[in-house]
Amino acid sequence: MFRKYHSIYRSLKLGNKVTILLLLVFLSGIVFTGIALNFILLANAENQITSEALGMLQIMNSVREYNSVQIRPELSERFETEYLPQAIPTYAVREVFKTLRQEKYYKNYFYKDATLNPTNREDQADDFETDLIKRFRQKDSLQQLTGFRNTLSGKKYFIARPFAVTKASCLECHSTPEVAPKSMIEHYGVTNGFGWKLNEIVAAQMIYVPASQVLQQARQSLIIVMGIVLAIFAVAIFLVNLWLKQYVIHPLNRMTKVAQAVSQGDMKAEFEQNNQDEIGSLAEAFSLMKTSLAIALDRLTQFRRERRP
Ligand code: HEC
Repeated sequence: MFRKYHSIYRSLKLGNKVTILLLLVFLSGIVFTGIALNFILLANAENQITSEALGMLQIMNSVREYNSVQIRPELSERFETEYLPQAIPTYAVREVFKTLRQEKYYKNYFYKDATLNPTNREDQADDFETDLIKRFRQKDSLQQLTGFRNTLSGKKYFIARPFAVTKASCLECHSTPEVAPKSMIEHYGVTNGFGWKLNEIVAAQMIYVPASQVLQQARQSLIIVMGIVLAIFAVAIFLVNLWLKQYVIHPLNRMTKVAQAVSQGDMKAEFEQNNQDEIGSLAEAFSLMKTSLAIALDRLTQFRRERRP
């Protein structure tokens, strides 16, 4: 197999040989660069989306803070008798996020306070999220988990952060049904969303981004960079071939023609010697050989003439 290709390769013209060699080097270069680049760009895209989503989480937490410090106290009395979701930090966050999702760019972002024992069933953590919350509970230093997840609506990239009850004021509504506002009990019942403790991790803040968004960003960068690399390689192959023709193949062809003419007795044919490189030296050596040949031939003719009776 290898021998067969080797003999085919040997029968090729110089220009084709160099082109094949360059192509092999460039192709393997492109494959390795492509693989390495893919990893780097994917990691970069993940980093970029993660930091963007973390910024969003921080804004959401500020909304929560604003709501619980400035809005809720104003409405707390009315909340006793009247169901006012505007007084609930999580409701405020959900509404703000809904508004954000009307922006085209964030259309496919999804936010959830995935909770083990939630007030609102919508916030119930599924098996996957429960597992993440357990991991946060086991290790205090764990501040963030990211990764990909397959869902019914496609592959998603997620960012999860632990959510702890950090203020005693939260327990007014999340400790026992007895102390919770009546309107809240009427709306959500007494069975869930209670029994939370101060500093306990009760939920994970989840941000979901369609994986395609991450992958697409990485793919776009990959296509641009690979396009540039390919263009550089193509120009390099073209220039090497041009150079080879100009400085090696054409001079060699000319020399072959002159050598053929000399071998057929045309002693006027001259080896041109335009360059000082190896090809130039070869032309010079051929010229010397031709001169020696001419002298030898002259002598031979003279010798024959003298021997003639
Ligand atoms: C006025 C009562 C009230 C207070 C105070 C309150 N919450 Fe809530 N919280 C609720 C209600 C009601 C919901 C459900 C809202 C909904 O329909 O999404 C909720 C939802 C949540 C959720 C989402 C999971 C779930 O149970 O549905 C989290 C997490 C949460 N609260 C954490 C906190 C934290 C942390 C604080 C303190 C900073 C706090 N809450 C203060 C009433 C309260």
